[in-house]
Amino acid sequence: MTSAPLKTIAVFASGGGTNLQSLLNRIETGELPARIAFVLSNNSKARALERARQYNIPAIHLSTKTHPDPAQYAAELLALLKKHDVSLIALAGYMKQLPPGVVQVFHGRIVNIHPSLLPKFGGAGMFGINVHEAVIAAGEKESGASVHFVTENYDEGPVIMQEKVPVLPGDVPVTLSIRVLEVEHRLYPEAVRRVLAGEITMK
Ligand code: GRF
Repeated sequence: MTSAPLKTIAVFASGGGTNLQSLLNRIETGELPARIAFVLSNNSKARALERARQYNIPAIHLSTKTHPDPAQYAAELLALLKKHDVSLIALAGYMKQLPPGVVQVFHGRIVNIHPSLLPKFGGAGMFGINVHEAVIAAGEKESGASVHFVTENYDEGPVIMQEKVPVLPGDVPVTLSIRVLEVEHRLYPEAVRRVLAGEITMK
C-alpha cells in the first residue's frame, strides 16, 4: 500500500525561529505529518535560517531590499511557493507584510501565531515584547497565544486555536513572554496539523 504524499509547508520567519523549531520537532516525532519545503526570511541573519540549514531544508533570504520592485518581489514569492508545491504558509515571527497577491492566491492557506488572545493586543505595533508590555500595562489577568488565518488585515483573520496563560503578580514583559512562548510551541504544531488535515477551514 502506498501512502499519500506529505503535505508541504513553507515557514516564513524573521528571528529566532523557536516556533519553526517546534514544528520541526513535531515532524520528527511524527505528530505533525508534513514536510517543510523551505524556510524563508527577510533577514539574512535570522537564526531561523540556520535552523533550516541544520535540517537540510532550503533556507531562503528574500526581502524587499534584494527585490525592491513590489511586483517582482510578489512574483518571486509566488514562483517559489509553486515550485515547491506548497500547501500551507506558516508565519512564525515573520515581521513583513505579505504582498496582497500572495494572500489572495493562498486564501485560507496562510496561518500565523500571535502572542496574545486575539482580537486583544493585535494590529499595528503589536509585535514582540510590545504585546506583553501592553498586556501588563492594561492590567489583564490573563494572556495567551492565538493561531489564526491570515487575511489582508493582519491579526484580524479567523482564530484557529487559542490557549490562555495567567498574568501573575510581579510579571514583567519578559516573564510573561516566556510563559506565552511555552504555550506557542505546543499550540502551533497542533493548529498546523488540524488545518493540513482539513479539520479546520477558513469560513
Ligand atoms: C512569537 O512570539 C510569535 O508569536 C510572534 O513572534 C514570535 C516569534 O518567535 N509572531 P520565534 O522566532 O518563533 O522564536
